[in-house]
Amino acid sequence: MKRWIPFPRVEGRASRQAHADLPEGTFEREMSKEGFYGPATQMYHTHPPTGWTDWEGPLRPRAFDLTKLAAPTQSPWQAADVLANASLRLRVWRPAERMDHLVRNGDGDELLFVHEGRGDLFCDFGHLELRDGDYVMLPRGTLWRIEPGGQTTLLLIEATNDSYRLPERGLVGQQAIFDPGVLDTPRIDDAFRAQKGETPSRVVIKRRNTLSTVRFPFNPLDAVGWHGTLAPVRLNWRDIRPITSHRFHVPPSAHTTFVAGRFVVCTFCPRPFETDPGVLKVPFFHNNDDYDEMIFYHRGEFFSRDNIRPGMVTLHPAGFTHGPHPKALAAGAKPARTETDEVAVMIDARDALDVAPLREGVEWSGYVDSWKS
Ligand SMILES: [Fe+2]
Repeated sequence: MKRWIPFPRVEGRASRQAHADLPEGTFEREMSKEGFYGPATQMYHTHPPTGWTDWEGPLRPRAFDLTKLAAPTQSPWQAADVLANASLRLRVWRPAERMDHLVRNGDGDELLFVHEGRGDLFCDFGHLELRDGDYVMLPRGTLWRIEPGGQTTLLLIEATNDSYRLPERGLVGQQAIFDPGVLDTPRIDDAFRAQKGETPSRVVIKRRNTLSTVRFPFNPLDAVGWHGTLAPVRLNWRDIRPITSHRFHVPPSAHTTFVAGRFVVCTFCPRPFETDPGVLKVPFFHNNDDYDEMIFYHRGEFFSRDNIRPGMVTLHPAGFTHGPHPKALAAGAKPARTETDEVAVMIDARDALDVAPLREGVEWSGYVDSWKS
């Protein structure tokens, strides 16, 4: 039987409340188990924990500009790989035009995130319109294709050999951080009926990362109806009502949107800054000792990161402390603004993420030095 030490020990000069009323002249660093859920200690340092002068070796914070990565391609199976481990695969895809085939992922549920553009998704279950900021969760085995409207960029987040679920909502109840009522499912509407027909069709199935092609003399997206508890769902960040506190900087886990077995997907949405005079107004320094952490920046101004623009990704592998850039830290002490307009998708992965071989110029090699003030 295991038992956590059930009360905080305090040594030396420390705050009574995490993330608030820091001892004068200190920088707070949190080290914790289980992301932000398990036992945690806040240390009060006299120097910023990101005040490094040099790094050697393969471990380091990394940043990638995905806008330099993806050439338009016909099929999601030609999307550019970015990060992966045994339970997760992140790719970025620019659909070239209307897909001339259907696809089915036999490897796991696929979560699409529409970074830019719009389009129409047709699948076994019917038709869904897509716009920027939409997540679409496609259960493993769903047959689908999209018709992009203009330049469209999608993230594809595969829960390899796994399924997406919604997080536990605990104390804040079933309607936080979005009411399940805002999850849209595909409709058997006029657009879906119009695409049916006896057109010979090609289905490209991905299983064990290998492709197989099946041909039909008709379009298999021909359902007249469905009934059940399993379907693709669409959620736009604009329907997320983030949990905030005027007196406490809530941890990223409060923004958890989808959960798989070995990773979580969180969404940072526009929200007011804290107003309590003693409370931290920028993310606290922390080790992510149990998780590799990736953030995709979708839109807005990223208040805690310098030189990060929409379409970029940062990766903070487990093993070191990270936190706000010096400029954000200074601004956090005296915020000029009362709210942040940032929208970002965060993935916290329990297992180490491997970076795919990327074309020259996609990685910003100076990122590790960007904390130098
Ligand atoms: Fe973090």
